[in-house]
Amino acid sequence: MIKPKVLVTRRWPAAVEAQLSEKFDVVFNRGDVPLMTHEFRQAFLDYDAVLPTVTDKIGVDALELSDPRTKLLANYGVGYTHIDMPSAQAHGMTVTNTPDVLSECTADLAMTLMLMAARRAGEGEREVREGRWSGWRPTHLVGTKVSGKTLGIVGFGRIGQEMARRAHHGFGMDIVVHNRSRVAPEILARYNAVQAEDLDDLLPRSDFVSLHCPGGAENRHLINSRRLDLMRPGAFLINTARGEVINEHDLVQALTFKTIGGAALDVFDGEPKIAQSLLDSDHLVMLPHLGSATAEAREEMGFRALNNLEAFFNGETPPDRVN
Ligand code: DGY
Repeated sequence: MIKPKVLVTRRWPAAVEAQLSEKFDVVFNRGDVPLMTHEFRQAFLDYDAVLPTVTDKIGVDALELSDPRTKLLANYGVGYTHIDMPSAQAHGMTVTNTPDVLSECTADLAMTLMLMAARRAGEGEREVREGRWSGWRPTHLVGTKVSGKTLGIVGFGRIGQEMARRAHHGFGMDIVVHNRSRVAPEILARYNAVQAEDLDDLLPRSDFVSLHCPGGAENRHLINSRRLDLMRPGAFLINTARGEVINEHDLVQALTFKTIGGAALDVFDGEPKIAQSLLDSDHLVMLPHLGSATAEAREEMGFRALNNLEAFFNGETPPDRVN
């Protein structure tokens, strides 16, 4: 039997690459260098399935083709706003993602960022490494207590709920959520959470605000100067969702004029480039998009994509189809 021709756009965990090689006629991007738009266009003409990931921009231009061979985009990652869905749809391409398997690890990282920002861990680490630490004193790098405070969660999907679990059951935090649709009372009850009327209602009620909503055009600059002004003075903003959700210029203003206490970002608008104004800000913790970066989650993400691939070529509906 002729095996489907598959392109994997970046390096994947070795165990997953090995299984992909056994089951498909697969080409790996051994150099791990991001593909250009024209390379994606060619790939869509040459392969039955393309396995991209969240940093592959597959816009209208990459999909402007008359008769692509590719019928499946099995994305490695839960977010898929980097793919122009109407164009994929117009070509009859099925798109899948890898939900669930990264929720716990992403929530762990959001907790890490929240604690780092509140307890000034970034500033402390810089001080130690640069040899500027002059010893313990009562007023040194005093931060903000996390336990027992109120956490506002924006987007109450799987990752948002894992964040609530950790914050409520581990740190005794009160949970307020904002979600596009009404959250079932039994889900809220698991974390003793309440659903805010809307985002503007959540912001002034929260000591910490953690973003877990999708990115893309619909949520671009959801957090802007008006909404930053609604946050409590001294409150912290955490982003493990997508960079474009925050207007970074407005965030820098809020940090500079100390209208909020601080922020912690794992994702950036236009990453991996980071605005100099963010780099210059001391009240900001930054990580390089590490949300799902554990050996366990990254391997499971790969097997989840493989599962979608196998289902598709067996003539079944892939379990994580998103269109
Ligand atoms: C995703 O899956 O969308 C993350 O951003 C990468 O883990």
